[in-house]
Amino acid sequence: LTPPLPAAATAPAVAPRSVERTATPRRYLMCPPVHFDVVYAINPWMDVSVPVDAGLAVVQWQALKAAYEARGHTVDVIRPEPGLPDMVYAANGGIVVGGQALAARFTFPERQPEGAAYEAWLRTSGAQHGVVSLGQAVERNEGEGDLLWDGEVLLAGTGFRTTREAHAEVAARLDVDVVTLELVDPRFYHLDTALAVLTTASGDRRPEVAYFPGAFTSESLAVLRERYPDAIEATEDDAAVLGLNAVSDGRHVFLTQRATGMHAALRERGYEPVGIDLSELFKGGGSVKCCTLELRPAPGTEVAA
Ligand code: ARG
Repeated sequence: LTPPLPAAATAPAVAPRSVERTATPRRYLMCPPVHFDVVYAINPWMDVSVPVDAGLAVVQWQALKAAYEARGHTVDVIRPEPGLPDMVYAANGGIVVGGQALAARFTFPERQPEGAAYEAWLRTSGAQHGVVSLGQAVERNEGEGDLLWDGEVLLAGTGFRTTREAHAEVAARLDVDVVTLELVDPRFYHLDTALAVLTTASGDRRPEVAYFPGAFTSESLAVLRERYPDAIEATEDDAAVLGLNAVSDGRHVFLTQRATGMHAALRERGYEPVGIDLSELFKGGGSVKCCTLELRPAPGTEVAA
């Protein structure tokens, strides 16, 4: 006689967590929004007639920093400069992979002085944190806003800010392979508003990403589908609250609490979404990832605390 099958009613309502997600400790650079404001409009989210509560922006930013630290990550802080209201979006300041760094060269004159500020930080403080070489960019690139490391290749956005010429420059400078992705929707003007790396490749662990398909040309979408067949394809609703502008440590995914579909999709795959409220910085067209530059030291570098 065959033993009775377990009752179907005990089957879990959601897919079981098939993968154990492991967090790896990260080092981030952030800039407090003490001078944050919306006084010019260089992306469709910015409206100079909508008032900004800078005090609340600082409180919300501190909560993001605390959320990282509570999960074992180290946060370095760069001094904010008066007159540079977008300096809070630290992701745009440069890119660091394996201790090789390249500072940004911004598109709009309003943000250009930020390049020098981030470059100075990377040269001085960065040197204590595993930045072994720093290049000065000739081509226009907006750092991790458009350049996302998946552990194997650098995903490089273009169409609005960072140029194709910059992709070649970054590849040579950081000694990495670059995959160019073309953005088509002005709401998603930086790659990090349309795509998030959830798992960085290492050993036999494959990279995993989430993205909003509507942000890309059909050619770039084909590249993404081929490279990441298991990716989370986010909805327009989640993308429109900047739910793809997320930071992941491999287990915890920090993102706006408003992207409810993303939260569910992440949980289904065994990630732990951490909801963050950055309503004020949203008015500048940025969210969690925009405020966070990851510092990836040279392998084997002794990194000072
Ligand atoms: N106001 C800034 C700009 O338009 C926002 C930058 C957001 N940063 C990002 N990594 N997407 O340049």
